[in-house]
Amino acid sequence: MPILPGTPESVARAVALLRSGGAVVLPTETVYGLAALVWDTAAVARIFELKARPTFDPLIVHVADLAGLERVAAHVPKVAETLIARFWPGPLTLVLRKRRSVPGLVTAGLDTVAVRMPSHPTARAVLRGIGEPLAAPSANPFGALSPTRAAHVAQALGTKVDLILDGGPAQYGIESTIVAVEPEPALLRPGAVAVEEIEAAIGPLARQPRPGGAMAPGRLPVHYAPRTPLRVIDPARVPLAERAGAAALSFREPFEGYAATRVLSRRGELREAAAALFEALHALDALGLARIDAQPFPDRGLGLAIMDRLRRAAAAH
Ligand code: TXA
Ligand code: MG
Repeated sequence: MPILPGTPESVARAVALLRSGGAVVLPTETVYGLAALVWDTAAVARIFELKARPTFDPLIVHVADLAGLERVAAHVPKVAETLIARFWPGPLTLVLRKRRSVPGLVTAGLDTVAVRMPSHPTARAVLRGIGEPLAAPSANPFGALSPTRAAHVAQALGTKVDLILDGGPAQYGIESTIVAVEPEPALLRPGAVAVEEIEAAIGPLARQPRPGGAMAPGRLPVHYAPRTPLRVIDPARVPLAERAGAAALSFREPFEGYAATRVLSRRGELREAAAALFEALHALDALGLARIDAQPFPDRGLGLAIMDRLRRAAAAH
């Protein structure tokens, strides 16, 4: 499995591999993705297999442009057009009614498809080169931490994929925000675009998908988990005696007595903290300590996405 920088030659190689049914790791601005041609059900099946991902968990389809969107979406309502004009290319995924031609394996049998137009230049170059939509979940084993660097992917899936394109550390470092458009705009997963920004563009988002409305079957409570047990707790309240042998993950400041500490943003910026989150969790997890104490984040802006990931990581143990 070669790891190559995103040069025109390696992009051409990725395109050729994808055309012949390969599974290729692409850098995106959120996290690294494991891509296959959306129409190639054998290649898509291999993605599920490589990730050990249950097939009831649908994939996100990545497109280069609006023509790509029209290949997979049956209908683009006005509110989706507004969001597209404001946030694409970028880390917002829209759930729309799908075209019949989109394989049921990609959408887990749903009549909707999740679509986004990534902004990372290497992802865009591959999408333009192949001229077809690509199905790409995050390039991690199912339930494990998402990869924000090529090295994370090489470690977890390295020998199994056909090619890893290295696009450097991911700019946002946390997955895209997922919004269902119909029957009413609803937040399915908090992510790299703050909910407040979306609401400023289209008005209030429903927070819980309504029964019978759009669902995110992948929103299992256990997800994004390090192997080290993690709890969400303010380290300031943890007695010194309990800190030895454990790691702290904090927002702004380090805490005494922990065997290791990662501070996500000394300046106290939620965007910077979100970008550093998975990288810090990967690093702390590699130390093999007894526990990670993760400080709670404010439930606003990108803090919402950070808390979502931390709660799921905590639910794993
Ligand atoms: O930032 C991202 O979104 C990254 C990069 C690679 O683009 N991708 C990503 O994919 O996070 P993945 O597979 O790890 O998460 C996709 C989520 C899953 O929770 C899945 O359930 C949800 O999207 N999803 C996909 N299709 C859906 C649909 N039709 N309706 C509701 N949720 C859907
Ligand atoms: Mg994922």
